[in-house]
Amino acid sequence: MRIDIITVLPEMLEGFFNCSIMKRAQTKGLVEIKIHNLRDYTDDKYRRVDDYPFGGFAGMVMKIEPIERCIKALQAEREYDEVIFTTPDGEQFNQPMANTLSLAQNLIILCGHFKGIDYRIREHLITKEISIGDYVLTGGEIAAAAIADAVVRIIPGVISDDQSALSDSFQDNLLAAPVYTRPADYKGWKVPDILLSGHEAKIKEWELQQSIERTKKLRPDLLKD
Ligand code: ADE
Repeated sequence: MRIDIITVLPEMLEGFFNCSIMKRAQTKGLVEIKIHNLRDYTDDKYRRVDDYPFGGFAGMVMKIEPIERCIKALQAEREYDEVIFTTPDGEQFNQPMANTLSLAQNLIILCGHFKGIDYRIREHLITKEISIGDYVLTGGEIAAAAIADAVVRIIPGVISDDQSALSDSFQDNLLAAPVYTRPADYKGWKVPDILLSGHEAKIKEWELQQSIERTKKLRPDLLKD
């Protein structure tokens, strides 16, 4: 899989993708993540990529030309499954969406900034608009990082134990069961006995029961369907 991220703040994302599991996924050749500085695609002598909005509204708007130029340059090299735009008024990101996107071959993620982007970009170039929640961030970079992270970590081989991605919270619409490690008794705070029993079938049953109980208590909305 290849993910191309278009941003005015490449340094914000470079650190993120050069760490831990995201870095390892790239080193192992399981994903290629390329970050593009939108300012490299403008002719403006001050490298400006925004302009005043028509209609006298407040704030600045991202211009069409550099964004179109960058997207078209990428599309000339390969076919993309989706051209994603991160925006608070997009479709709410969730695990099923991450699962679907993880099957893609190539993705572009355009990070929003300023007051927004010229709406014609959304009409003509973007194929999917995603929000990571009902709150407004200063830019789309954190959203792009969250989406790419959630998508990449479920690519087989990215997490060493491939069972562990499948047993995450939200896969199966259930929250994950609690997990524990040594010591089994920490100042009287005890690990549930069943986990020390070595009885695999009973442990599995306990895990499912815990998942259902935690979901009922914390996220009953997930059980509606
Ligand atoms: N940009 C600013 N806020 C955002 C959000 N909640 N989701 C996606 N992109 C954003």
